[in-house]
Amino acid sequence: MKSRSMNILIGLGTAALMLGSATVQASPAEDLKAFQAYFAKKFPDTQFADFNNGVYSINESFRQQWESIEEFPPYETFVEKGEEEWNKPFANGKGYASCFGEDVAAVRGFYPHWDVKREQVVTLEGEINRCRTENGEKALKWKVGTLAHLSAYISYEGRGQKINVVIPDDPKAMAAYEDGKRFFYAKRGQLNLACADCHVYQSGQHIRADLLSPAIGQTSGFPVFRAKWSGKSKSGDGMGTLHRRYGGCNKQVRAKPFKPQSEQYRNLEFFHTYMGNGLEWNGASYRK
Ligand code: HEC
Repeated sequence: MKSRSMNILIGLGTAALMLGSATVQASPAEDLKAFQAYFAKKFPDTQFADFNNGVYSINESFRQQWESIEEFPPYETFVEKGEEEWNKPFANGKGYASCFGEDVAAVRGFYPHWDVKREQVVTLEGEINRCRTENGEKALKWKVGTLAHLSAYISYEGRGQKINVVIPDDPKAMAAYEDGKRFFYAKRGQLNLACADCHVYQSGQHIRADLLSPAIGQTSGFPVFRAKWSGKSKSGDGMGTLHRRYGGCNKQVRAKPFKPQSEQYRNLEFFHTYMGNGLEWNGASYRK
């Protein structure tokens, strides 16, 4: 069953047109336009603003289940934990606000971005741990737990802001963008599938019990509480960061995942989030 649906996918995936690999390099703005136009055409019944809701933007019955879960969202207690953590001073008396500013609602929309001085893409989770270590605190685990709770709180406070990733016209920033884009379109793993195979060309198709979500806006709702992750955790804490999900999707094609906050995943996040520009940030979210 498993391998059959995969085989169908592989067959279809290779025949599909490549959105992102024209021989002449397109500008990020051209990529963005083509990417968003592709999904608008593929899912004519979905309003643009709704693409930040993953599979729930393209399937009515999944959406109804999700809406009833959202009445008592399971991520809420973790948003609260994140808030407590945010307000807890470090041993040196400072706190997260000393790094991020007092206006929590303004933080989410600031990441990911190209940091000119450090010449790298910086992410929200990366900066949370940097804030800690620069203040003499231990770094938190990257994919789950307190870091995901902090990210959930910050994302929740930042809901409603528009995604507005800027790709600066700077060769190093452009190289990071191109690297993230290449990652997204590169086939990998034993199943030889790219992110784009599942989340662009095959989006809207079922694979086993799952429906493949469109890649547009896919990063907006992170971190997410997944029922599946909750079932795996002793405490029932189902929160996970975007890079946890990236690792899971790499493993699905039997590729070795990269480390969370590796340059590869940060560059991927840069490209991937940029492709959702114009949609609203809406984390934290619930996913199956
Ligand atoms: C074999 C198909 C497959 C491939 C290849 C794949 N994914 Fe996924 N991905 C899934 C499935 C299935 C889900 C869960 C249902 C959904 O939201 O699409 C998922 C979910 C996601 C989500 C969560 C979406 C949400 O709304 O919560 C993100 C983000 C994501 N994938 C990113 C990626 C990236 C980036 C890559 C490339 C590294 C990738 N995926 C490769 C199958 C795949």
